[in-house]
Amino acid sequence: TAEIKRRFLAHFEANGHAVVPSAPLPAIDDPNLLFVNAGMVQFVPYFLGQRTPPFARAVSVQKCIRTPDIDEVGKTSRHGTFFQMNGNFSFGDYFKEGAIPLAWELVTTPVERGGFGLDPERIWVTVYLDDDEAAAIWRRTGVPEERIVRRGKKDNFWSMGIPGPAGPCSELYYDRGPQYGRAGGPAVDEDRYLEFWNLVFMQYDIADVRSKEEFRVVGELPARNIDTGMGLERMAAILQGVDNLYEIDEVRPILDRAAELTGRRYGVGSGRVAGESHPDDVRLRVVADHVRTALMLIGDGVTPSNEGRGYVLRRIMRRAIRAVRLLGWQDPVLPELLPVARDCMAPSYPELASEFDRISSYAYAEEEAFLSTLRAGTTILDAAIAQARAAGGGRLSGEKAFQLHDTYGFPIDLTLEIAAEHGLRVDEEGFRRLMADQRARARADARARKTGHADLSAY
Ligand code: GLY
Repeated sequence: TAEIKRRFLAHFEANGHAVVPSAPLPAIDDPNLLFVNAGMVQFVPYFLGQRTPPFARAVSVQKCIRTPDIDEVGKTSRHGTFFQMNGNFSFGDYFKEGAIPLAWELVTTPVERGGFGLDPERIWVTVYLDDDEAAAIWRRTGVPEERIVRRGKKDNFWSMGIPGPAGPCSELYYDRGPQYGRAGGPAVDEDRYLEFWNLVFMQYDIADVRSKEEFRVVGELPARNIDTGMGLERMAAILQGVDNLYEIDEVRPILDRAAELTGRRYGVGSGRVAGESHPDDVRLRVVADHVRTALMLIGDGVTPSNEGRGYVLRRIMRRAIRAVRLLGWQDPVLPELLPVARDCMAPSYPELASEFDRISSYAYAEEEAFLSTLRAGTTILDAAIAQARAAGGGRLSGEKAFQLHDTYGFPIDLTLEIAAEHGLRVDEEGFRRLMADQRARARADARARKTGHADLSAY
């Protein structure tokens, strides 16, 4: 993986791009975004014309976090909460006619000549519905008509998911072969045809973003730009010949250590429902993914807390710790796994090794606290679940969920997850009503406590 990064940077540097370091994971300039979720985030002011870029072309390997699909982690080959995005950028310099051949050259140049050596016959591309220009450039570059697919906004119009720069895009897919799914191209099967690089033709400013397909184009950007994102982990999976991103060299050692500790064998596949992974495999992947993500987040200064970025980190850590317990290991696990994650990532991010004392002290303290919460809450929750099942209602009451939260600090998302594992729903509406009542009481109480001397709520 480190070599893929090196080759990517070298290719674009040789083609006149400035090498720019990754921005830290917490997105600081944008109130709409908790974490950097794409390589272009640090360049948004350049695209919008708010700042003049010091270079016309740039290349980076950006650390990213995306959590909307957190429940998919481990189940598909494609979802990771932390990933790295290789990207090349043009700020009003080259456009489609430059981006497409530059990408093609890197991925098809043989390995011994510094490229990625993909077989051109196995590459498919997509373009936005009416983007004849991009389709014509692909044909000229060497992709035959039958492997150029046109797709709509959902797949081929890219934005950050929030107001800002956006544009139609063209994606590159690699055909991993019939053992991964049906023939027919990316529109038919996205497991067999793995998307690995997205070339975005940044030319619009959008607002009122409601979904991938519902937004308002406010106007054209001052210049036509290029923003690309190559999923580093996906490219690593392809080039390392492994099934999914949890098995690449930067992640697999964490998974193997978790398997060793819990005595589970990864990839055995017994009890597999068609197309689905064995639950143990899913849990081992969740552990590996989430431990790495926690390391990277704490490394970039995020600490566990009950809101915002800190809560995302807390939730990720808790999911990893719980998955390990479900695999049968009850002791603190981070002291076993975090050093493995550090050793995987430190070759690219040496600060993870030099800062490891700080990082690990936050992580280990969080695990200790969570384990005591779990010890107290699980007994109560197990009893409540047994009771609810005996009563045959299929539902856990809002009062019980509230009591677990209020008295035992047992987070609602965990109650929901555990209840679901037992086939029960939770009266979430009742829970939220009780939470709102409690907040109202706390506010009234705070008002009543104001003395003539000081407003204690500020303290
Ligand atoms: N900015 C392009 C991508 O994230 O796919």
